[in-house]
Formats: sequence, C-alpha cells, structure tokens
Amino acid sequence: MNVRDNGAYVPSLTVKSLRKEYRQPDGSTAIALRLDSLAALGGEAIAVTGPSGSGKTTLLRLLAALIRPSGGEISFNGQDLSLLGPSEARWRASAVGYVCQEMNLLPDFSVMENMMLAGEISGMGRAAARERAAALLRRLGIGGKAGSRPSELSLGERQRAAVARAVLHSPPLVLADEPTASLDAENSRVVMKVLLELCSESSSLLLVATHDDEVIKLLPREIPLKRSEAPSP
Ligand SMILES: Nc1ncnc2c1ncn2[C@@H]1O[C@H](COP(=O)(O)OP(=O)(O)OP(=O)(O)O)[C@@H](O)[C@H]1O
Ligand SMILES: [Mg+2]
Repeated sequence: MNVRDNGAYVPSLTVKSLRKEYRQPDGSTAIALRLDSLAALGGEAIAVTGPSGSGKTTLLRLLAALIRPSGGEISFNGQDLSLLGPSEARWRASAVGYVCQEMNLLPDFSVMENMMLAGEISGMGRAAARERAAALLRRLGIGGKAGSRPSELSLGERQRAAVARAVLHSPPLVLADEPTASLDAENSRVVMKVLLELCSESSSLLLVATHDDEVIKLLPREIPLKRSEAPSP
C-alpha cells in the first residue's frame, strides 16, 4: 500500500510472472494469459490491448478475483488475490467495479434498482446510493432511463447503465471490458470521459480492455497482450 505526500492512500497493483492456463477436453493445455510484470497505482488509466484471445478478459477476471491464476503473483493493496478465501465476495464488492463484456444487468429490475442493489452489496447507505446513482445516470446521458428495465434500453444505453453501476461506490479498482463496444463514436467519448473523470476524482486505478483505437488514444498507458502459443506436447 502506498501513501501520497498529502497522506492520502493510493491503491497499488503488482503482477509478476502471471499465468492462466486451461486444460482442454483433449488433455492439452491452453494458455489464456502470460504477463511477466505490471506495477500500477491509483489514478492511472491503462488500456489492455491485444488481439482476440490474447487474454484481456482473463486478466480483468484475475484482477477481480473471479478466477485464480495457474501461477505467478497478483496482488492489489497488498492483498494476494490468489489467496482470497471466504472473504472473496466481500473484498470484490468493496474494492472492484467491473463492467463485464456481457454487461450482466439483472433483467427483472429497473436501472435504478440494479444500481441500488449494487450499492447495498457494497455497503452504501440507501440515500447516498440513490443520489449518486441519479447523478451518474445523468452524467452518462441516461438520466431519463432510471425506471426502465434493461430490455427496454438500447445496447448502448445498457452499456452506460453498466458503467454507472460499476463506479457507484467509487471502488479503488475499476475494470472495464470493452465498455464502448456497443456505442457510437460520440457516446464512446462520453463514457470514456466520465470513466476517466470518476477514476481521477477517487484516485481509482482504471483498466480498460479495448480494441478501439479512439479509446486507446484517451488512455495514457497501454499493456499490449500477445496471444500465447500452446506449449509443445
Ligand atoms: N473458461 C475457459 N476455458 C478454456 N479456455 C478459456 C476459458 N476462458 C478463456 N479461455 C481461452 O483463453 C484465451 C483468452 O481468452 P480471453 O477471453 O481472455 O481473450 P480476450 O483477449 O478477452 O479476447 P476478445 O478480444 O475476443 O474478448 C482464449 O483462447 C480463450 O479461448
Ligand atoms: Mg475479451
């Protein structure tokens, strides 16, 4: 963990010799991700780039402790993410904001109800969660959609709602997997601007997996991943 000159706490991420492999149905091993090293601090905004299958989603899922590494080290704020036990869900709810590729909004709840549930899981008070949720939805241009269900939104509106939900509790680690994939150029810029502003306001570390050159240009740092060849049998 780090402390700035002004005494504020700064989130920090360390990765060393990280590997994720999967056993294939034919018995061979597929390499999903290899990353030698990475050190990053809160307030940084990083593009995770590389061709399809290079491990961008795998890296974000490892960082959210949704999956465990096959080898190497991955830690956030001194917490070894490969060793999280029963406290894993609580850790994720407080530390991580995740916009996943599938968006995962609950279909039977309105946008506001989706956000209120996220607020409750992360321990926010109801009044504070409602106020911030409304402000975030307005900032992302979907203030009028708070009462709509995901099925009543366009794909781009759903993506913006997923972004708003992920950053509701100002988590120190914000992971966004292709957050602009369903958006036109103007809405992509709005989503990226709001994500960058919010992460900077709360000194959060932001990682954005993306193929979009316009998005990559907006992020000061890039981690380019390569597709790994399977080891010879
Ligand atoms: N649960 C799994 N079981 C087996 N293989 C997997 C699993 N999850 C991912 N992989 C493999 O790991 C590799 C990396 O996948 P990943 O989803 O991280 O790629 P990506 O860079 O996010 O690709 P895209 O740009 O298409 O989203 C792929 O070859 C994929 O098939
Ligand atoms: Mg992916």
